[in-house]
Amino acid sequence: MNKVTAPKSFRVKSFGCQMNVYDGERMAELLGAQGMEAAGEGEDADLVVLNTCHIREKAAEKVYSDIGRIVKDWRRDDGSSPMIAVAGCVAQAEGEEIMKRAKGVSMVVGPQAYHRLPEMIGKASAGERVTDTDMPAEAKFGALPARRKRAPSAFLTVQEGCDKFCTYCVVPYTRGAEISRPFADLVEEAKLLVDQGAREITLLGQNVNAWTGEDAKGRAIGLDGLIRELAAMPDLARIRYTTSHPNDMTDALIAAHGEVGKLMPYLHLPVQAGSDPILAAMNRSHSVDSYLRIIERVRDARPDIAISGDFIVGFPGESDADFEATLRLVEQVRYAAAFSFKYSPRPGTPAATMEDQIAAEVMDERLQRLQSAITRDQLAFNTASVGRTCDVLVERTGRRDGQWLGKTPWLQSAHFTGECKVGDLVTVQLVEAGPNSLSAVTV
Ligand code: SAH
Ligand code: SF4
Ligand code: F3S
Repeated sequence: MNKVTAPKSFRVKSFGCQMNVYDGERMAELLGAQGMEAAGEGEDADLVVLNTCHIREKAAEKVYSDIGRIVKDWRRDDGSSPMIAVAGCVAQAEGEEIMKRAKGVSMVVGPQAYHRLPEMIGKASAGERVTDTDMPAEAKFGALPARRKRAPSAFLTVQEGCDKFCTYCVVPYTRGAEISRPFADLVEEAKLLVDQGAREITLLGQNVNAWTGEDAKGRAIGLDGLIRELAAMPDLARIRYTTSHPNDMTDALIAAHGEVGKLMPYLHLPVQAGSDPILAAMNRSHSVDSYLRIIERVRDARPDIAISGDFIVGFPGESDADFEATLRLVEQVRYAAAFSFKYSPRPGTPAATMEDQIAAEVMDERLQRLQSAITRDQLAFNTASVGRTCDVLVERTGRRDGQWLGKTPWLQSAHFTGECKVGDLVTVQLVEAGPNSLSAVTV
């Protein structure tokens, strides 16, 4: 039996997408504001928050083995196990099951309820097991302490949730309906991040380009308007946004890529598959052609833009011909980067019960072929950048003495040696390319 006392130290471990990383930072800030100490790597923590991802089966199952490991290996000096909270999308989707399967868990808290962690910890410290997976109407963000994060590159969640209901995807169920955070709150948070040293802000949302709001004068604006407003902040050098849905790629947002110098030349625009019947079965509500037209227009606005995407192989019913169409699409787009996944049937989603599920070996083979095509294009994109002069935003030191790591405008990792510090924008020339990074020299 665990000795129950109020935790004094904590650790938050985030899995999954960048929005989870952002939530994890805000949970850490919340616990810090309660007077709890963040435990360093290898140090005992009285409370461990597992901020989980439900997107694919592997990610979700990992939670249970992680809990087991924490109970066993993270015992503190007095022999007790740390208090465990499961947060994030698995908490939302499987709260009850977690409580049944994992007795070591004291708290289950959903992605829209984590501002209530302090009261939950109070109850858990009194020996109760507490679940809160409500999606309350009250604004979570308003109940959280102000940002304290100091980093050259910061995340800012502007939009949450999803109304698209792609037939394979859990996000509409784990994150709820699409909501946009108010303009004034976002401007305030961005200012705080910049005052604390952020040179780059990445605007986040499950469908970030669905963001809408009203500017200071009460005019209706979209994501492009928010970007233009943030670009007016003198100390902010770079703006990015992710993830976008093709159907929310407005003319105004495309135009912003050609007009706003601080908006970095990078667009993550997932397509998932290159065959129209599969896109229809996925309920993507766009076609291969309409996707390609968007890419074409974005490239017209910003010719050097780096395009990245997401793919799923082995969606139910995907034939060899459908898959070949995906390879053809990849060849046409020439991605600067892309992420590909084997289809994972998720409980409660329509695709999980569709006929014609694809055999594991077929998925493996398709994934391999797709990934080698993507690696080829990544290397080609990086190789084509050799000789370019650009700014790198320095994020950390590299492995070698005097070496620094940072990102180019096209989100490539670049390393170089020279005199500088984290947070500097250093002008370099790119001199050598690999599939995942480039080496550079200062100019
Ligand atoms: N909102 C974003 C990203 C959602 S999740 C979008 O719509 O693009 C990130 C990626 O995970 C998706 O783009 C998709 O490629 C992948 N994914 C989602 N559900 C999946 C599933 N059931 N199996 C395999 N991959 C999945
Ligand atoms: Fe999932 Fe589709 Fe929504 Fe993206 S747009 S989060 S893939 S349902
Ligand atoms: Fe995973 Fe939830 Fe993000 S399921 S990908 S953590 S929205």
